[in-house]
Amino acid sequence: MDETRNKIPIKPLGWWVRSHGCNELHLEHIELEVCLMGWVQYRRDHGGLIFIDLRDRDGLTQVVFSPEVNVEALKEAHALRSEYVIAVKGMVRERPKDMINPSLKTGHIEVAVKEFRLLNRSETPPFLIEDRVEVTENLRLKYRNLDLRRPSMSRNIRMRSQAVHALRNFLHESGFVEVETPFLTRSTPEGARDFLVPSRQNPGYFYALPQSSQLFKQLLMCAGVDKYYQVVKCFRDEDLRADRQPEFTQVDLEMSFVEEGGVMSVSENMIAALFREISGIELETPFMRLNYDQAIADYGLDRPDVRFKLKLKDVTEVVRGSGFNLFANAQLVKALRVPGGSELSRKEIDDYTNFVGIYGAKGLAWIKIKDNEWQSPIAKFLSDEERAGLSSVLGLEPGDIVFFQAASPDIVNNALGYLRIKLGERFGLIPENTFAPLWIMDFPLLEWDEEEKRWTARHHPFTAPKDGHLDLLEHEPGLVLARAYDLVINGYEIGGGSIRNHTREDQEKMFAALGIDNEQAGNEFGFLLQALDYGAPPHGGIAFGLDRLIMLMAGASSIRDVIAFPKTQKAACLMTDAPATVTGKQLRELGIRLREQGKILDN
Ligand code: AMO
Ligand code: AMP
Repeated sequence: MDETRNKIPIKPLGWWVRSHGCNELHLEHIELEVCLMGWVQYRRDHGGLIFIDLRDRDGLTQVVFSPEVNVEALKEAHALRSEYVIAVKGMVRERPKDMINPSLKTGHIEVAVKEFRLLNRSETPPFLIEDRVEVTENLRLKYRNLDLRRPSMSRNIRMRSQAVHALRNFLHESGFVEVETPFLTRSTPEGARDFLVPSRQNPGYFYALPQSSQLFKQLLMCAGVDKYYQVVKCFRDEDLRADRQPEFTQVDLEMSFVEEGGVMSVSENMIAALFREISGIELETPFMRLNYDQAIADYGLDRPDVRFKLKLKDVTEVVRGSGFNLFANAQLVKALRVPGGSELSRKEIDDYTNFVGIYGAKGLAWIKIKDNEWQSPIAKFLSDEERAGLSSVLGLEPGDIVFFQAASPDIVNNALGYLRIKLGERFGLIPENTFAPLWIMDFPLLEWDEEEKRWTARHHPFTAPKDGHLDLLEHEPGLVLARAYDLVINGYEIGGGSIRNHTREDQEKMFAALGIDNEQAGNEFGFLLQALDYGAPPHGGIAFGLDRLIMLMAGASSIRDVIAFPKTQKAACLMTDAPATVTGKQLRELGIRLREQGKILDN
């Protein structure tokens, strides 16, 4: 241990009371006696003076120890190190001209220390408490308490708090009632795996942590609550990525006596109010709407980033008779034209070819349009007629590159959809600090699960079909559209909801389409069906992913940066080392015997 550490004693706060925060003082406070508390950011020794940048969650203030003011304090200040916790009393004074730091809010002043107290020492932290340092995320997660001291993280956490406050205000003002719903419950079918909690009092029985509050919020509508909201944790055991955590927060709404428009307009006003209050950004309402088919046709994805205009084009018919067999025989051929893209190197194109492999693409055909030739590995297969066809459908011009994908619709749309985003970034087409909210509507109600060979609900089984589509459920389930809507901002699915089935008859038809017979429906959802029997009002709602919203607003690239204590990709908490093994006694009480000894995977 550092030997200077014990030189000065730790003192209690005593009667000292903080007068200001570390980002508060400026020229109008000159000559004021103040008391500041915080952490030592830096200590600089300068010709008999010691300067300390004192930090708290708001910012920095320079405090100065000098022999004219207090020689003893100056001597003791030599022992101060980064992250020591101190309290200082002193007078605010103007900094000499050559020491003004215009980038700090407090950069024109300093506090001349008359007295100080060491409140606690600190080990040398494993990384500097600054935004700029290069440090692995795992180390940050292990020492999250230190990571959260860094200005950007501190800002994110506070922005989140302000955002939740603004959302609650808006919803409260709009007549919504916040109701808490249980965490120890039965599983809700939102499509992910459940986290299970064994019941000690009922051995062999399990609670499931809610994947969403879906059924409870519908029951609250049946209870006459009329407008419900909750800022609520949801738990889903699914593969994680930058915008997915095993526990995340929803801003969850449900309303009675509304149709799509009612839910969507409240949502728009809420999101607009949030951006206005927190980011000072005015979003245009009503938000743009796009139907699902058009989103897939133009962008390949059902959560398109419409901040930039590149679009995919279906060229299946143009190349139907092509000498390039792959094109001639494919189920779907789509093209993505990138103006100015012919500057891409072979290496870059190879990288993109590997990239689309993630989505199942077997290759990536391309053509560079030069002034008087088409440069491409497939140019030789294309007839004059095809070239003319492609030119006119795609509006080709010299300098363009066109990428092609020929495969099943899923592969083509995903490969080109995600490639489009990569290319948008590569060519600087995506404007910064712009938010492009967009509703996606008219989703299919069901999707075919190839593994299980049955139809499953795309959203969840409580979503109502479009008017007039109910009867299609039995014979043409694939054609049924849902009364569902997703809110997408900048390529992220920020929220999703629907109008629900509010009669037993309609709900049972939906269960039947999903292959859930009356007995199973009664066992798993009997309480819902029963509630529908007793005068359930028409209702619908939506849930927003709070973490994703804050990530966007904070300009973060992962939701982990806006969650105080997130989990890693492997769903572990590096700080507490959860999940962890438990004692034999705990297991016996739960009536559980392990088949495999716990071994937590490496992160
Ligand atoms: P859905 O499943 O679409 O709908 O979830 C709503 C929103 O929650 C966010 N989200 C997530 N955020 C972080 N990590 C995750 N693992 C995660 N999963 C989802 C997304 C998503 O849009 N009960 C319905 C809502 C309704 O019908 O009213 C539901 O939960 O931003
Ligand atoms: P090949 O004849 O396999 O060498 O392919 C010729 C070109 O077509 C190469 O540039 C491949 O990357 C590309 N290619 C291969 N499979 C596909 C596909 N499914 N869609 C689009 N291009 C492909």
